Amino acid sequence: MAAAPVAAKEFKIAVGDGAGGTQEALGKAFIAALEEESNGAHTATLFLNGQLGSEQDTVNDAAIGLLDFSILAINNVTPFSPSVGTLTLPYIILSLEDAVKLTQGPVGQELVENTIRDSGVRIIGWAYSGFRVLTNSKKPVTEVADLQDLVIRVPKNEIMIATYQAWGVNPTPMAWSETFAGLQTKVVDGQDNPYITVYAMKFDEVQKYITNLRYLFSIEPLIVSESVFQSLSEEDQNAILAAGQKATDFSEQYLREQEARIKEELVSRGMEISDPANDEQEFIDLATTAVWPKFYDSIGGIEKLNAALAEIGRDPV
Ligand code: MLT
Repeated sequence: MAAAPVAAKEFKIAVGDGAGGTQEALGKAFIAALEEESNGAHTATLFLNGQLGSEQDTVNDAAIGLLDFSILAINNVTPFSPSVGTLTLPYIILSLEDAVKLTQGPVGQELVENTIRDSGVRIIGWAYSGFRVLTNSKKPVTEVADLQDLVIRVPKNEIMIATYQAWGVNPTPMAWSETFAGLQTKVVDGQDNPYITVYAMKFDEVQKYITNLRYLFSIEPLIVSESVFQSLSEEDQNAILAAGQKATDFSEQYLREQEARIKEELVSRGMEISDPANDEQEFIDLATTAVWPKFYDSIGGIEKLNAALAEIGRDPV
């Protein structure tokens, strides 16, 4: 008997950032791979620039099956699945290699399972976007003291809020979809995000100074609604998982190829880049000693942090 024809699907993918960033690159690579893996049966469309809602809203929408896929920053998943906070502790990820190991090894696998359980979405791919550098419109920042009179926007993420508090400032939590307007109208002076994201969001139009902070390496998962995923045939599920892995591999390569070029492009558009004083030591000391212990419980215990540190060859705490 001939197999029943597969109903072609055109999935919707929400994307928090604008064109030209790692989120869009991951999304395009995923769509091409999905078409290939499903022999042309399925495709998807990207809705850039938060058209389908703020990044945190898209997690809710996917959880209840109103949205198929979303690409967003990991820090906007943490409020729904606190153990994912392991990946957003300040100065835990020190390189792209660490980010790849932590997302694609056993620690990452456990976080994928926890996220399905806690928030009804399944992470099926990862974009690697680079360290979140600090931008502001007022002055070069190289020391913690320089931050004190700046109003900095952060995502609604407890770990990032606590990190700025450890540096002595009370940051302003604001949805990603409102951030450009917040910077433009000077409700906030600055924010942090990777070079590629600063470029994709055209922040050079409203920000002047960049500080090369390395406190948080931005990882951006591609999530699928677990209820949508479970409604699909095993063959379609496998096509989605394989496409997610191909897009992840592409994203790693994309960051290696694009970050340096984009950094230069931002300088040519008039942005000024400074390095933190003394190899960032003051930022590092304040953030790790004050912030890590506060989140042992929410990430599932100190042993989860130690498992992550072991995976990237670092000493336990
Ligand atoms: C945020 O700052 O809310 C996100 O990291 C932005 C992004 O997804 O690029």
